Amino acid sequence: MAKVIAVTNQKGGVAKTTTCNALISGLSKMGYKVLGIDLDPQGSLGFSLGINIEEGVSLYEVFKGKATVQESVRQIDCGHFIPSNILLSTAELEFSHAGREFLLSEAIKDIKDVYDYVVIDTPPALNILTVNAYVCADDLIIPMIPEILSLLGISQIKETIENVQKYYNPKLNLTCILLTKYNKRAALTQEVADMTQKIADQLGTKLAKTTIRNSVAVAEAPAHGLGLLEYSPKATACVDYYNFVKELINGGL
Ligand SMILES: Nc1ncnc2c1ncn2[C@@H]1O[C@H](COP(=O)(O)OP(=O)(O)O)[C@@H](O)[C@H]1O
Ligand SMILES: [Mg+2]
Repeated sequence: MAKVIAVTNQKGGVAKTTTCNALISGLSKMGYKVLGIDLDPQGSLGFSLGINIEEGVSLYEVFKGKATVQESVRQIDCGHFIPSNILLSTAELEFSHAGREFLLSEAIKDIKDVYDYVVIDTPPALNILTVNAYVCADDLIIPMIPEILSLLGISQIKETIENVQKYYNPKLNLTCILLTKYNKRAALTQEVADMTQKIADQLGTKLAKTTIRNSVAVAEAPAHGLGLLEYSPKATACVDYYNFVKELINGGL
């Protein structure tokens, strides 16, 4: 049975896409069979993995019933991938029918168990696309930047998770908060550390032991279309991400 991991936070710029890329390339490096899925109409995860997201079948055509899910699956260096692009941005208006929360879980139900892990990137919003990811997922990871402003507004995400657990997916587990883009020189202030712990408590989850440091390699990697841990395994952020993947799969979380 595949384990389905979704990476979520309604804020942009907190390293959701980067974390997905690292999970896909890290898990594949460890020998697991991985399917990546992009639910963000911006399409940046597919782009960063070297896919031409403007051409060929994307998740949108699958949701519309115009293509099969098999037709949407692309080969990448670190496994398989289903891309999205700007077409998916109309999802909220276009998919208004009953059962729209299950579009993704229905779409992948026949293929997901070919994989060990399915990794889903989500848009910076709590919309129908995000809900589709939550309905499908076993585990949720919330990346956060250790800055006070980025820690605000967490009650909305809590409400969305609780509603999905209640109505659609009781097995949904909020696995951890992952602190990203951590700058060693700007020491984590006590205030931020306390607040992050408070948020984890509020959400009934934990903070990952591993913290992801800042690295220039992270900004450079997408231009090369390679998995992050393939492109620059020795960069500090990549070493951290590899440790995080180990923490995740070895049951530390
Ligand atoms: N550990 C890191 N070190 C340096 N830059 C990072 C790191 N993680 C993410 N970034 C950069 O931060 C920006 C936002 O990251 P991204 O993964 O796109 O966030 P999100 O998907 O949450 O919007 C990108 O430009 C990315 O390259
Ligand atoms: Mg993103």
